[in-house]
Amino acid sequence: MSTPWPLVRVVAVAVAMSGAASCSGIQSALDPASPDAREIAALWWVMFGASMVIFALVLALLAYAIVGTPGFGGRMAGNHFIVIGGVVFPVVVLSLMVPFNTTVSSGASAAREPDTLTIHVRGRMWWWDVRYDDGTPGGGFRTANEIRLPVGEPVELLLTSRDVIHSLWIPRLAGKMDLIPGQTNRLMIEADEPGRFRGQCAEFCGASHAKMALYAVALPRERFDAWYRRQRDTAAAPVSDAGRRGAGLFAASGCGVCHTVRGHGADGRGGPDLTHVGSRLTLGAGLLPADRAHFSRWLAHNQTLKPENRMPEFTELSPEARNAIGAYLEELE
Ligand code: CUA
Repeated sequence: MSTPWPLVRVVAVAVAMSGAASCSGIQSALDPASPDAREIAALWWVMFGASMVIFALVLALLAYAIVGTPGFGGRMAGNHFIVIGGVVFPVVVLSLMVPFNTTVSSGASAAREPDTLTIHVRGRMWWWDVRYDDGTPGGGFRTANEIRLPVGEPVELLLTSRDVIHSLWIPRLAGKMDLIPGQTNRLMIEADEPGRFRGQCAEFCGASHAKMALYAVALPRERFDAWYRRQRDTAAAPVSDAGRRGAGLFAASGCGVCHTVRGHGADGRGGPDLTHVGSRLTLGAGLLPADRAHFSRWLAHNQTLKPENRMPEFTELSPEARNAIGAYLEELE
């Protein structure tokens, strides 16, 4: 009869490896950067610790049944042991865990100050339509696939969806919250250090669900204000020859039917607002860098890069024409 020690060794190695691999990084719930995320991480560690103690207890009983006193295994099969180990013990342990669970803040009920920044986030297949609301009719601006916020200030996110149910999860800043058509869910988030925090759609929403990411970017107040003022402005005129040619091709190709470029006569609402797309971190909701070469690639190959997205592939454009549109978009800072 073999001893259980090889199994114990495998478990120990697996625990050590998973610990080393996942406790830090731009999308780890175990590397919290906000008060709510710290509470969630603490809850995770409590539950992990409790599970490990119970797991060790079960393994010890198993080992004793195999190599310990003869007959112990048979006594464990009795009704007494099953009632205590299978009913009483789980009820007691789970009841003790309930208070930990219910006291962790979900971020949904936090208070809102009168001057709190409100950001509307609407899920789309498969990107994030983000609108900053300055409280005035027609004020504010739209962006996509990133949320910028001032460090150390609670920010209110109002979440809804245009099509199917999505879920916003920025693990280092907050727990998950669904985006549901016809309903607005509220989530308060706060970052206590500057940085980029990756988020991901956490509810299966179709073919490109896994390619629906975003970044939350926390900036010191004065840098946030500068970014905000710039985003509110209309688009800059293209400066390079390629950029000017690209602006003409963008209009002639009908891009403005789906995309807005404020100040350049494009006001479509089907796709992301591109007024300042050149200043964004990514193209395609976290998929590619937002630069000329990748804009050009996206124009011709977006269905391969992001299957079933709503944008057609502009394969009829020459590589030179696509490069010119890429230059135009890159200059939309
Ligand atoms: Cu959106 Cu999954």
